[in-house]
This record gives sequence, C-alpha cells and structure tokens, in this order.
Amino acid sequence: MGYFITFEGIEGCGKTTQIRLLAERLKAAGRHVTLTREPGGCAIADQIRSILLDAGNRAMLPHAELLLYAAARAQHVGEVVKPALDGGNVVLCDRFTDATIAYQSSGRGIDRGTVDTLNSLACGGVRPDLTVLIDCDPAQGLERARRRIEASSGPREERFELEALAFHQRVRDGYLALAAGEPHRFLIVDGSGSVERIAAAITPQVSSRLEELHHAVR
Ligand code: TMP
Repeated sequence: MGYFITFEGIEGCGKTTQIRLLAERLKAAGRHVTLTREPGGCAIADQIRSILLDAGNRAMLPHAELLLYAAARAQHVGEVVKPALDGGNVVLCDRFTDATIAYQSSGRGIDRGTVDTLNSLACGGVRPDLTVLIDCDPAQGLERARRRIEASSGPREERFELEALAFHQRVRDGYLALAAGEPHRFLIVDGSGSVERIAAAITPQVSSRLEELHHAVR
C-alpha cells in the first residue's frame, strides 16, 4: 500500500507551488511519486474541470456543482489514485474531499451529510493519510490568485475567484474546523511566509511520516 497526501487551502494560498516542490524532493530521495490534482487528474475529469471552473457558468446551481465534483472524483480515484496507491506510490493530490466539505458545504451551505455521502461514494474507501492545509488570509490569497489569472494566457478558470470575500472566509473557516477535528491527519502551515519557509515546515513532517510508515510495515 502507498501513502496518500492531499494539499488544501483557499485560492492563492500557494499549495500548487508547494506540492510541486515536495514531489521533486521526494523523487530526489528515491520515492515513487504520483502528482495529481482535483478537479481533474485524468482526461474525463479534466473535461468536467473545464465546466466547473468556466467563469461563463455562473448560473450553475450548488447541487449541480457538487455532483460534478463527485463525478470527477469517482473517475479520478478509480483511474489514477487507487491504482497508484495499490502500486505502492506516494500519491500527492492538489485538493481532495476536504475541498468539497469546505467549498460546497461551508461555502455554499449544502448540508454536510449530503456532501459526506457523495464523497464516500466517489472515493470507494480511499482516504488521505496526511492533509497539508496551507492557511492564509482570504484577501491576500484572492489578490495573489487574481494576479496569476491576469498573467496567464490559458483559459480563465476563475469561477471561484469571482466569489465574494465572505465566501472565501467561510471556506477558510470550514478548513480550520476540519483540521481542528482531525489533528493527527492535518498539518496546518502558515501560508504567509516565503516559499522556502513554507517548504521547510512541510518536508520534514512528510519525511518523518513516511519513515514511520516504513518501520510500521517492516
Ligand atoms: P484549484 O484552483 O486549486 O485548481 O481548484 C479549483 C477550484 O475548485 C477551487 O476554486 C476550489 C474548487 N473546488 C471545490 O469547490 N470543490 C472541490 O471538491 C474541489 C476539489 C475544488
């Protein structure tokens, strides 16, 4: 069995930079790493991603949004995450089930039971071993995310960046509540530091968890 690490946080918290750095470091240490993301991570889920993030789809209703995230996840878990874990890889995933709880339940107001049911349907028993939550102030994060979108030449995946600050505050609070409820699974990192400082808070923790696992299976 492999080891499943997810990265979470609000828009512009810096998690994508950090997950890439961690992947490089783990590969350099000789680990077999699968780096993936949600929504997306495989061809069918990437098509669903385009619908979900298209700023033109502002009319999308909360339950339609929730079901699309669940559909993308079911495909991604079955096609990518589960086979990689079964093959003994360290799987690093940029967002996973906690994002659905934070965005669709805390952010949109869909009841938690409905979100939990769809998450478990989509995951078929796959659960993160460790979740790195990069915590950051929503105003700063949004500012960073909007600058990145302005500078990019690709499709404008900004449906969530267009949400009000209060929405992102609820998402952040939702993440912090999840982390408080499962302190062993979550590693909360302050996202206001430099890229190097944030990485220095993550890498040793991950390495020691992987070492523990190594000793436990011996
Ligand atoms: P990204 O910006 O990290 O690529 O994530 C895409 C957006 O999708 C981000 O605004 C958060 C949102 N999202 C949800 O609302 N629910 C989910 O379950 C996931 C995985 C992402």
